[in-house]
Amino acid sequence: MRHHPARLIRKKRDGGELAADEIRDLVAGVVDGTLGDAQLGAFLMAVCCNGMTAAETAQLTLAMRDSGRVLRHPNVPRAKIDKHSTGGVGDKVSLLLAPLVAAAGVAVPMISGRGLGHTGGTIDKLAAIPGYRTDLTCEQFQQILEQCGYAMARANAELAPADGRMYATRDVTGTVESIPLITASILSKKLAEGIDGLVMDVKTGRAAFMPDEADAVVLMESIVNVGRAAGIRVAALLTDMDHPLGRGLGNALEVVEVLRALDGDCPGDLREVTLALGAEMLLLAGVATDLDAARAILAGLWQDGVARQVFQHNLEVQGGDPRIVDDPGLLGRAPHVVAVEAQRAGYVTDVDPLALGHVIVDLGGGRRQPQDAVDPHVGIVLAKTLGEQAQVGDALAFVHARTAVAAAGAAAAVAAAMPVGEERLRRHPLLKRRMA
Ligand code: URA
Repeated sequence: MRHHPARLIRKKRDGGELAADEIRDLVAGVVDGTLGDAQLGAFLMAVCCNGMTAAETAQLTLAMRDSGRVLRHPNVPRAKIDKHSTGGVGDKVSLLLAPLVAAAGVAVPMISGRGLGHTGGTIDKLAAIPGYRTDLTCEQFQQILEQCGYAMARANAELAPADGRMYATRDVTGTVESIPLITASILSKKLAEGIDGLVMDVKTGRAAFMPDEADAVVLMESIVNVGRAAGIRVAALLTDMDHPLGRGLGNALEVVEVLRALDGDCPGDLREVTLALGAEMLLLAGVATDLDAARAILAGLWQDGVARQVFQHNLEVQGGDPRIVDDPGLLGRAPHVVAVEAQRAGYVTDVDPLALGHVIVDLGGGRRQPQDAVDPHVGIVLAKTLGEQAQVGDALAFVHARTAVAAAGAAAAVAAAMPVGEERLRRHPLLKRRMA
């Protein structure tokens, strides 16, 4: 006999601590539908208002993980380590990191999401590659991991299905912003991948899911502690999202930046974050004993083109056009490309990632509603970034748009997001805190 949902909701509403079996009953009700929408909404609101203890959060995470299949990879002897980012603007790190870390002998099973609001998503970036398939069955995902050392897929209904209904309900009940619910949502899906370890990239700054640094640190600690309680190795970095990462912003434009980066032409900020996260993954995998050694291994594999080869192999097995590695032009291009020019001489004093993220959504590169289609080609390429000098008429950025009208509107918004002034500012440190 299951516990009565209304009694459990009252208990949480009144600040009580739920036991493991009570949480399991609630999650079972989420999956089989016996917990009604009103009850689920009320439970989520009670958690949002009263929080959860670390033990409750761990139990919720495990119950959500066990609501579907939990993958095993018996034919993959390597350590299986994933990375997850809370997301931002221009964050294409996963595309670069997975082949790099796989080249170092670590298996990377990566299940990713679509863009959320102004933040991009790995699945949307991969959709910009002609033919690339992310709608994999669990068996295909396992096979691809065995074949090329990493696999990238979108969540399917078999993995942590409780999260799908809970997330959709949170979205419409004002209960997204809850550290225990975010922790359980992220970790249940990651644990279902069958990983030995996880490196979390928690972003903070204007375009982050958690803009406030103190909130982001609480989330970081929660994920590290709950992940460890669930039996995996976890490390986390708090990284800056007060400015975009790299120079290509928008799905295909970000893939182009990754292809250039694999060829050695990588913006410094993107390289720094990629190597920092990758080094943590190698440490968790036991492939390196300290961060400097791990970074040296990754830098060598990057420079020697091994990561590029692994990327191309993954394209071959996941249906993507492998020729894009030699010819990024095959990704296609938006019909209207317009330069945003500096109106005065000076230095770029800001590159507001939140404003640029909204411009990309307005251009059609992100979604306002879950069912919206995404145009892979639209976006922004930064010609200058924070602290760089510009003369009158120099291009600050290029807007890639579907129509001339959309391009003109976006160009005005980009100009406002990239002021030019007297002061030569430097970016805040990218790596703000580490938990390992
Ligand atoms: N990403 C998720 O997967 N879940 C959340 O709750 C928030 C961000």
